[in-house]
Amino acid sequence: MALPYSDGNPGIQLNEAITVRSVFDTLRTRFRASGITTPDLDARCLIAGAMGFETEDFFRNEDETVSPDQLSEALLYMDRRAKREPVAYILGQKEFWGRTLSVNASVLIPRPDSETIVENLLDLSENGILPGTQTPAKILDIGTGSGCLLIGLLDEFPSGFAVGVDVCPSAVAIARKNLFLADLENRGVFVCGNGAQSLEGEFDIIVANPPYICTDELSGLEPEIMQYEPVSALDGGPNGLKFYPMIAEIAAHLLSPSGILVAEHGSGQQEDVIKIFSSILDERRFIGFRDISGRPRTVAALPKKR
Ligand SMILES: C[S@@+](CC[C@H](N)C(=O)[O-])C[C@H]1O[C@@H](n2cnc3c(N)ncnc32)[C@H](O)[C@@H]1O
Repeated sequence: MALPYSDGNPGIQLNEAITVRSVFDTLRTRFRASGITTPDLDARCLIAGAMGFETEDFFRNEDETVSPDQLSEALLYMDRRAKREPVAYILGQKEFWGRTLSVNASVLIPRPDSETIVENLLDLSENGILPGTQTPAKILDIGTGSGCLLIGLLDEFPSGFAVGVDVCPSAVAIARKNLFLADLENRGVFVCGNGAQSLEGEFDIIVANPPYICTDELSGLEPEIMQYEPVSALDGGPNGLKFYPMIAEIAAHLLSPSGILVAEHGSGQQEDVIKIFSSILDERRFIGFRDISGRPRTVAALPKKR
C-alpha cells in the first residue's frame, strides 16, 4: 500500500521499512510541485525536526527507519510547508547569532541580515568608538520582536543590561521566553509599548530594526512573508520610512552623548534614513554599513569627533 499524491509522486510504500531517504523523496517532490525554491533543504530541516535530530546529521541518518508517529509528523509538516508556511514557524525556532530562538507567527522570523547590527557594534567597540564590550552598557532595542538583537547583544556585551520594547503583547511574550531560555532574565527586561513612550534614563546603545517595507509593496512579497509574517512587523508606511523619525526622536531623548544608535533599513533607503536622522540628531555624525551580501543595510549615529 502506498500514500500517493496528486502530483504523480508514488508516495511512501507502507509495505516496506520507511527510511528517512524515502520520506525525503516524498517531501522534496511535493515541495518542488508547490514552487518552493529550496525543496531539498526544507525537506531535510523538517524531517530532522520530526525525527528529533539536527539537520546537519541528516545524511548520517538517511538509512534510519521512520516510526509511524515520526512519519505522520513529517507529513503534517509537509502539508504546512506546501501551503508556504515558513520552516521556522513550523518548527517553532530559528537560529540567530549562534542561538536557537523560539518563534511563532506573532514575531518576525529573525534574518541573518539583522546580525549586521550586532557586527557593527562589535566593530565600533573594537575601533574605540564605543567603550569595550566588557564595560557595563545600557542597551535599548526598539521593536524587539523575538528579542533576537537584544539577546545577541547581551551575549557580546557580558556586563550589559538591556531593555526591549515592542507594541505587540504576543511578541513581548516570545521575547521573554527567549530571554528565559537563554538564561539571561537577570540582564534584560521587555516592555510592551508604542516606541519608548514609557521609558526614561540614558542608554549607551540603541538598536532598532523597524518595519520598513512600503505599504503598497506588501502584496507583492513572497507568500511565506505576506501570508504568515505579522504585517505590524513589515509595514513601514507609504514610503517605508515611517518609523525612522520616531527612532531618531527616541535617540534624541534617551541616547547618552557618547552613545551609539544603529538602525536597520531596507533596499535603497540608506540615504533617506541618514537624512531623517541628521535632521533630528544634529549633534551626531552618521555611517552607513553594508550587510554580509554587500547591500547597504544599517545606519549608525555616532558622537561627533572632538
Ligand atoms: C521588523 S520587526 C523586527 C523584530 C526584531 N527586532 C528582529 O530584528 O527580528 C519590527 C518589530 O517592531 C514592532 N513594532 C511595530 N511598531 C512598533 C511601535 N510603534 N513601537 C514598538 N514596536 C513596534 C513590531 O511588532 C515588530 O516586532
